[in-house]
Amino acid sequence: MARQLAAITGVQGYVPDHIMTNADLEKLVDTTDEWIRTRTGIEQRHILKDPDKATSDMCVEAVRGLLEKTNTDPSEVDMMICATVTPDMPFPDTANITADKLGIKNAFCFDLSAACSGFLYALSTGAKFIESGTHKKVVVIGADQMSSIIDYTDRTTCVIFGDGAGAVMLEPSTDDCGVIDSILKSDGAGRQFLYQKAGGSLHPATLETVQNREHFVYQNGRPVFKAAVTGMSDVVLRLMERNHLTVDDITWMVPHQANMRIIETVAKMADFPMEKIMINIQRYGNTTAGTLPLCLWDYESQLKKGDNIILTAFGGGFTWGATWVKWAY
Ligand code: UT7
Repeated sequence: MARQLAAITGVQGYVPDHIMTNADLEKLVDTTDEWIRTRTGIEQRHILKDPDKATSDMCVEAVRGLLEKTNTDPSEVDMMICATVTPDMPFPDTANITADKLGIKNAFCFDLSAACSGFLYALSTGAKFIESGTHKKVVVIGADQMSSIIDYTDRTTCVIFGDGAGAVMLEPSTDDCGVIDSILKSDGAGRQFLYQKAGGSLHPATLETVQNREHFVYQNGRPVFKAAVTGMSDVVLRLMERNHLTVDDITWMVPHQANMRIIETVAKMADFPMEKIMINIQRYGNTTAGTLPLCLWDYESQLKKGDNIILTAFGGGFTWGATWVKWAY
């Protein structure tokens, strides 16, 4: 009997209406459109401005569209995982809040924190519940409102990040399409280069942590850049090797959208032509857990059943990985 796989049966994204351009950032910090474009490839990012809205509201938009697209009644969803580092609040989980707002009552919901690799971690986790036969409709979300933890006086981070959410539906399949294999890695020693210092149990919020701007993202870009390039190219190549895949077998590589120079270097190291690389960083910036499903959403009309896709990501933690998916529709 064919192995039961978790097929992606739909994808939907959401970005807020408000667009912050590089010209807007030139007014906030000492930067230029030229620096941002040439060093990162980013031209604009979407920002959730409404003070009464948060990550769950972006999840709601993405998942509502996903349910419509896949003709799924909220009562049929039996699991929902939300990968995010910007939950609405420390608890309860954003997945639970999203479920409540959508009338999803029968599901096992939880958040997963793996920064920019969050969607890959969640996709692999959700797929295991389908493969084991215990769950039939699993929603996997990658969503971050990065603007809620970005210091708009810090030019080294504020130009990079944006807000957005993407979601996929996983369902059982026996026609060889679905999430086939993953290599997921982490290395906590990398935490010194990319983190949010305060707001957790080590440094709970105090007047001092707020005054010291410790509730914002801190990043030492260069070591992260280097680790991202080596980490992603290594797992992509190892995943292909152990599955006997060549570049010709792969229709698309979907890399985390953190920096156009990282994307180009990973493509080069894995010997992929740029025509096979999904790219939308110019429009959204780095939406952390949102980048991979937002890419799939943007390129959905170009995908065909049976396409081999390699997703890869690298992020805070450090966390990284690569996943081989055979597209199911
Ligand atoms: O998604 C999670 C994982 N994150 C990543 O993958 C991000 C990885 N890192 C990067 O993408 C890049 O390191 C950055 C885009 C963050 C920075 O680019 P870089 O080419 O590594 O620049 P740098 O940090 O080496 O800084 C070079 C110069 C510095 O000035 P000096 O010291 O040479 O005078 C910075 O102060 O560029 C300066 N700089 C800026 N200048 C204008 C840094 N940010 C800016 C800015 N505008 N926004």
